Parts: sequence; structure tokens; C-alpha cells
Amino acid sequence: MGRAVALALAREGARVLATGRHRDTLAELRAIAQARGIPLRTLQSDAEKRERVRKAFRYAASKIGGPDLLVHAVGDFWEGPISRLTGERWEALVRSNVTSALYAIQEALPGMRRRRYGRILLFGVAGGDVPRAAPRAHAYRAAKVALLTLARSVAHEEAANGITVNLILPGVIRTGTVTRSSALLARRIPARRLGTPQEVARAALFLLSHDSGYITGSTLTLSGGLLL
Ligand SMILES: NC(=O)c1ccc[n+]([C@@H]2O[C@H](COP(=O)([O-])OP(=O)(O)OC[C@H]3O[C@@H](n4cnc5c(N)ncnc54)[C@H](OP(=O)(O)O)[C@@H]3O)[C@@H](O)[C@H]2O)c1
Repeated sequence: MGRAVALALAREGARVLATGRHRDTLAELRAIAQARGIPLRTLQSDAEKRERVRKAFRYAASKIGGPDLLVHAVGDFWEGPISRLTGERWEALVRSNVTSALYAIQEALPGMRRRRYGRILLFGVAGGDVPRAAPRAHAYRAAKVALLTLARSVAHEEAANGITVNLILPGVIRTGTVTRSSALLARRIPARRLGTPQEVARAALFLLSHDSGYITGSTLTLSGGLLL
């Protein structure tokens, strides 16, 4: 989804720096952008390491300015019985879904405050706005609820500075995270199909636009009716 949002933003004329841990994935993204004639920069980084996040923001500021927009689309998934939810697994899920968002937000805020403008977009999960039982996904769902609380707290604090913080709550979107059979998953979704990263990107463009300035601390569910 991060890739689709990056491409959509760049196509709309935003100066985009896309980051990720793997060189090959970033090269693939640059190739797609180049084939479509869309200018886009990439940088190898790790959202879970504060120092590397700091460097990525410095790099962005020096090469493309800002940033006025921050899209954080990191968040590992794991499911299994609670007996197999080790402390290491729990911490890894929190680090991937919440701590990495905290680092990015902390780096983005000072510049956004100075410019009195900012759009921050994070990714929760459908149903994550009403905490519910999540058998087999205890840690992932708990982390997403923590992320929403973090997002709303920052939204409240920064509203007077022209900075918005919102979350997209995806249902089942056809991306690398989704490994189970699409047909099996689609049967459980009222729309009878998985969502696409492009559909997510279109919603993201709105929440990242100038026009969405009065929307903050909000969630936008894209789930084809799942969990209604
Ligand atoms: N797909 C779904 O159906 C679904 C449903 C509900 C919620 N979500 C949430 O939506 C968000 C995006 O999901 P997705 O399906 O697009 O995930 P994805 O296909 O697994 O992509 C995640 C991206 O984040 C990068 N990434 C992961 N860890 C990173 C790190 N530590 N530092 C830098 N980059 C990192 C990955 O690149 P590298 O591996 O190269 O670093 C990859 O480009 C996540 O927060 C996920 O929890 C997804």
C-alpha cells in the first residue's frame, strides 16, 4: 500500500522519498515509476531504528524539502495461539506497528510545526477503532489500537499547528501481507473481493490533500463491508 500511495502522490506532483529496508524492492519501485514517467526518489532505511529514521528525514529535507506529508505504511502481522506469542514476538510486533510510527512522527513534527502545515497518515486495521476480541491476533490488534491512541493524541496536540493525523483502516487488501488464498478470504467479505492498493491510494490522496485540513484524528475504513 505504501508503494501505491507513493506512486499516486508522485503522479500528482508531490516530491516523494520512499523508504524501505530492501534494496531490491526499492529498485523495483524506481523501475515502475520510471516506466510510468513519474519522478520519485528512494532511500534504504529502517523505520524501527531511530537513528536511521532521523537520517532519512535529514536526507529528505536536503533533497526534496519538507516533509509536509508523512505516510507510515509499516506494520508486520502475526497470528497464532497465545501460547506461541513469545515476549520477543510481542515486542517485534509493537516495534513494527507502533514504535516505528512514533519515530517517524517525532522526526516529522518539528518542521511541520515551523511551517504550520502537515499531513500525517498511518495504517491501522479494520475494526481497530472499536477494540474487540482478536483470537490469534492478540498482539497485532493490540498494537493497532495503541497506534490509534498515539495518532489521536498527536492529532489533538497538533491541530492548532495546521497538522492533521489520520488513519486508514484496511480490511483485506491484496498485498504482500496477505498470504492466505484470496478466494477463501473473499467469501468472508460482503463485497466478495479483496481491496486493491490503488483503492487505498485514492483514499490516502484525499486525507493527504490540502482540502482535508479539518479532518484529524479520524479513521477511514476500507474493507468492502467487512466487520460492519
Ligand atoms: N494488507 C492488508 O490486508 C492489511 C490489512 C490491515 C492492515 N494493514 C496494514 O497496512 C499497512 C501496510 O500493509 P501492506 O499490506 O502494504 O504491507 P506489506 O505489503 O508487507 O508492505 C510493507 C512495506 O513496509 C516496508 N517495511 C516493513 N518494515 C519496515 C521497516 N522496519 N523499515 C522500513 N520499511 C519497512 C516493507 O519493505 P521492506 O520489507 O523492504 O522494508 C514494505 O515495503 C501495515 O501497517 C499493515 O499492518 C494491511
